[in-house]
Amino acid sequence: MKKIMVLGAAHAQMPLIDAAERLGYHTIVASTPGAHPGFLIADGCCHTDISDPAGILLQAKRYQVDGIVTCGMDIGLRALGRVCDEMHLAGLTESAAVRATDKALSMESFAQAGIDHARSVKVHDRQELEEALDVLGFPAVLKAVDLMGSRGIYRCDTMEQAQAAYGSIQEESAQGYCLAEEFLEGVLFGAEGMITEGELDFLLPYGTKVYHGTLIPTSVGHWAPLDLPVGQEEIRKVVVRALQALGIRTSPFNCDLLLKDGKIYLIEVNARAGASFLSETVSIYYGIDYYEILCRQAVGERVRDHFALEGRRPRASVSQMIISEKTGILENVKIPDTQDNSHIEKMDLYVKTKGQIRAYRDGRDTAGYVIVKGDSVQECRRYMEEILAEVCLEVR
Ligand SMILES: Nc1ncnc2c1ncn2[C@@H]1O[C@H](COP(=O)(O)OP(=O)(O)O)[C@@H](O)[C@H]1O
Ligand SMILES: [Mg+2]
Repeated sequence: MKKIMVLGAAHAQMPLIDAAERLGYHTIVASTPGAHPGFLIADGCCHTDISDPAGILLQAKRYQVDGIVTCGMDIGLRALGRVCDEMHLAGLTESAAVRATDKALSMESFAQAGIDHARSVKVHDRQELEEALDVLGFPAVLKAVDLMGSRGIYRCDTMEQAQAAYGSIQEESAQGYCLAEEFLEGVLFGAEGMITEGELDFLLPYGTKVYHGTLIPTSVGHWAPLDLPVGQEEIRKVVVRALQALGIRTSPFNCDLLLKDGKIYLIEVNARAGASFLSETVSIYYGIDYYEILCRQAVGERVRDHFALEGRRPRASVSQMIISEKTGILENVKIPDTQDNSHIEKMDLYVKTKGQIRAYRDGRDTAGYVIVKGDSVQECRRYMEEILAEVCLEVR
């Protein structure tokens, strides 16, 4: 029986742990102690901080695992890389994990590889911040290098805003430096994919629904297939060069991209499956269970054939977060019944009536989500509109 270690035990990792169980693998779930749902369904638990590579390696060796996997978050990637390196498992190397999880190191790698990206400067203090912004101009983006889900990312239109953002980042980030970037005005999109020994297994570009009510445009939904005037081959070239630049040879990955004046800019590469329902987007498109494929790749199985459509038509999907624009107490909530709607792939609401709800600022404020599938994105958008019209969050 294959043994797989899953890093993370929260809701986001549940489909991954479920998938490993379905495949008949022995699952060992690692996370800091707590009432995490993943611990309840795992075969074995280890209460280890997944951001601690040495601690996770010790546990992986103790259990003699055949694979290690995570999804939707960066926090365990360095430990995952350490385990893959030391135990010769299929997956990310630690050096690639380090480059991919530090936005400044990623940008240096992209610049060296000649990939189009926002001009950026690494900033260590307030003096350097002013110098960097004199060069970059406004609007600019100030970024913590080690956070995710749009946390620690600020758009700045003046030096005062930049100085205030710098103060916030110093509190939020564990690193002693941050990144100043030119603000790119364009159309955000993304690409989800998987690579094994330097060869792409699949690449699925997708559309990004952007919410503008936050400090920085943030993604609150996706759709696939992508319908932008940009070729699949062009996207593939940028993504492959970015993966090479970071040294990602075997891993699932997720890229944030931006189209501006017909040119593709790289915003970020995450060395793991994307958060916010992108694994579901992949599953629907290819008619597979992508979480199972993540597990299969991690234990060293060949996965490429699962993405061959072989005459089948890919399926379209649209996913959207349910968010509140108001902070307060959730007085009442109404969501449609999912039972009699075959277009709904999944739908959930995390918030409870009489509980606190926060106006959407970043990924942590998601109140729920809806994922619909259909024959075309247009059709899915229609279903989504109908469903969202029935969703009501009454906040006081
Ligand atoms: N230079 C930039 N210009 C315009 N928008 C940006 C820029 N950098 C980031 N963004 C926006 O902020 C979001 C979050 O930034 P990103 O670097 O992807 O960090 P993370 O996703 O880890 O929070 C991006 O998806 C994009 O919408
Ligand atoms: Mg991102």
